[in-house]
Formats: sequence, structure tokens, C-alpha cells
Amino acid sequence: MLLLILLLFKGLVCHGESAVAPQALGLHHRAAAEEPLIFRVLHIASFKNNSWVQSQGSAWLGELQTHGWNGTIGTIQFLRPWSQGNFSKEEMKNLQALLQLYFHGFPMEVQTFAHQFQLEYPFEFQMSAGCSWHGGQVSENFLKAAYQGSDFLSFQGGSWKPSPGAGSRAQNVCQMLNRYRDIKEIVQHLLSNTCPRFLAGLIAAGKSELEQQVKPEAWLSRGPSPGPGHLQLLCHVSGFHPKPVWVMWMKGEQEQKGTKRGDILPNADETWYLQASLDVAAGEAAGLSCRVKHSSLGGHDIIIHWAGGFSVLLTLMYLSVIVTLVVLVVLGSWCKKQCSNRNVLSSCISNPAFPSKNNTRCPRSSVHQLSLSQESRVKTRILKWKRSLNHFW
Ligand SMILES: *[C@@H]1O[C@H](CO)[C@@H](O)[C@H](O)[C@H]1NC(C)=O
Ligand SMILES: *[C@@H]1O[C@H](CO)[C@@H](O)[C@H](O)[C@H]1NC(C)=O
Repeated sequence: MLLLILLLFKGLVCHGESAVAPQALGLHHRAAAEEPLIFRVLHIASFKNNSWVQSQGSAWLGELQTHGWNGTIGTIQFLRPWSQGNFSKEEMKNLQALLQLYFHGFPMEVQTFAHQFQLEYPFEFQMSAGCSWHGGQVSENFLKAAYQGSDFLSFQGGSWKPSPGAGSRAQNVCQMLNRYRDIKEIVQHLLSNTCPRFLAGLIAAGKSELEQQVKPEAWLSRGPSPGPGHLQLLCHVSGFHPKPVWVMWMKGEQEQKGTKRGDILPNADETWYLQASLDVAAGEAAGLSCRVKHSSLGGHDIIIHWAGGFSVLLTLMYLSVIVTLVVLVVLGSWCKKQCSNRNVLSSCISNPAFPSKNNTRCPRSSVHQLSLSQESRVKTRILKWKRSLNHFW
């Protein structure tokens, strides 16, 4: 089997001797990005007993899954239109063949050595390997493995190293692995040559999707009461991309140190969600606001003010209802004064503009008819309004 791996590997190496030239990619604007972009291949293997193992493989660029592994037929699944990066079909095929050997051979080797290394069924093995892109250049590569959820070993400087605290079992495994020089060379080459080349090509090919900016929406709500006389204010921020975001409860320009950030959670559409909470005494909620900064907002931070448990929109709606009521009352009292008749109120509102001679505001049938002098007073007043209105038009 080792021979096969070596043969396949020769194929890979022939395609990839050229050095990486990431600066030629024109991705300088990524240089300022705070977080490095990491490409990682994950393998999770669950060993149930000495004849049954379940394997899962996937590859990720940052938070986006780019590849899957179909264990049944042993093929790479390309999950994005750009998942092949700039690798040729042939190079991808060689990689796939290498992965087939790995996914087939690795569990068998582990089963064979399980007894010698006192691995107790059932057990879980996790492997993460890849490289990272930071400030416009490929900076690091890594391979680490965990046994039963704890760090077990890693590959560093060309050899296998037991993780601190992983015990004598990890030491023994590393000692054995380190005897296979060819495997170490293959792993080293995959990590320090193949991975960076692939990553550079992948970033270039997926650039538009990777750099896509989606603006967050934000809203406020009240959380479960943290105690008597206290409120928990919640600021929800959702639908943003990329992941880095800044959310803070503020009083004016002052950041509220008590702001607690939740975890950034994924939405189903590959955008993100974050909640920031603040516990305050009931009387101190006034004047607080939630402020959100995100790259998609271009410096125009979102600021939402806490309005006593109501959203600002709701408050505006209440305000407009109150204003309308006040206007009605004022109009009403004006009508009452003019007509001494409450019945007229409705016609005052529906047709405040004007009574002609034959269309008087107060019905003739009404007992409370306008006196002639009152009517002419109303008319002059209306004429005045009309004149001043004409100034505006
Ligand atoms: C893909 O892009 C990288 C980075 O520009 C380059 O080094 C490499 O030669 C390209 N092609 C292949 C097949 O790797
Ligand atoms: C191994 O585990 C599988 C799945 O739990 C089970 O179906 C199978 O019978 C087990 N085999 C042995 C030899 O215990």
C-alpha cells in the first residue's frame, strides 16, 4: 500500500513544483482582513468495534464547506462552482486517488494496531489538516489529530509529535509513525506545497463569493427578567456576511461594559446571527441604544434606541395616534364653538374645506342652525385660510 501511495504522490508532485506566488493574485484588499483564511480538511472516524467504522470527510474554506467526501464510491464532492480552484482535472483525480487510499487504508491500520496501542472500542478519531492565508500570503500549515475528543498528536517540522498531556500512548504512536520516512515526506509535501497552491487557486476562483458583503438587520427585544426590578435588553443582529461583527450596548457615546455577546450562530442561508444582551435596573434603560458595526455597512453603523420595551416603530405609531386624537379634539372643539352642535363634528372632519351657500356645514334641519352673523364670520375666516394657503402653493 505504501508503494501505491508513493506512486500516486509522484503524480501529484510532478504537477506542482512551481512555487506559490500569492502576491500575483491581486487580493491585496484581503491583506487588511483581521482573520486568516484557513483551508482545512477534516476527517472524523468512529470506531464502533473491531469490524465496524464510520468515516466522514469534508473540506472547508473559512466557514464555508467547499468539499465533501462520498465514502461509498470514494469520490470528492465539489460543493461550489469554484471548488476545484485552479487545479486541473488530472491533478484532482490524483488527489482523489490518494484520498481513496487514505480513507480505505487508515481505518484498517488503526484496527490492526488498536490492540497494541490499547485503543478501547468504541472510540472517536478526528483529524484536521490544512494551511492558512494571511495578509496576502500563505503563512502556516498544520495537521493535528484528536483521540476521544482530546488532542493526541500533530505533525510539526516534518515529524509526528505527541500532544502535551496525551500520555505514553501518543508517544508510542508517534514513535512508530516517525519510522516511516516516506509517509512523513508525503505529508510534508501535501501540507507545504499542495495545500498552499490549492488554497491560493481556491481563493482566486471563489473571490466573488468569499468577498460578498451582506448587511445585517438589527432589532431589540426584552429577555427573561434577570431579577426583580431588573431588565434584560436584547439586541439581535442577523443576516450578515462575512462573520466579523461588532455589537455593543451604548449610552450616548459610552460603551456599556456589561454587554454580553452570545456566540455567532449560522443562519441557514450562510449568513450569521448574533445576540448581545445587557442587564440593567428597570429605571436605567432609557437612553440606551444598540450599535452595530460591520464591513458591509461602510462606516454607517446601525444604531437602535431602546424605547421602554417598545420598538421605535411602535412608539412612532402610538405618537401618530395621539397626534391624530389631539387634532380631532381641537377640530371638535372648534366645530362646537362654531356650530354649537356636536353632530356637525363628522362633517367638519370629512369636509373641513368649505360650505357654499346651498351646502351649509350645519344641516338646515338641525335645531341648532347657524345664525347669519356666525355664518359670515366662518366664511371670512375660511377665506383668510384660503388666502394664506395660496401663499404656500
Ligand atoms: C494555481 O495558482 C497558484 C497561485 O497563483 C499557482 O502557484 C499555481 O501554479 C496555479 N496552478 C496550479 C495547477 O497549481
Ligand atoms: C459492530 O458494530 C456494528 C454497529 O453497531 C454492529 O452492527 C455489529 O454487529 C458489530 N460487530 C461486532 C463483531 O461486534
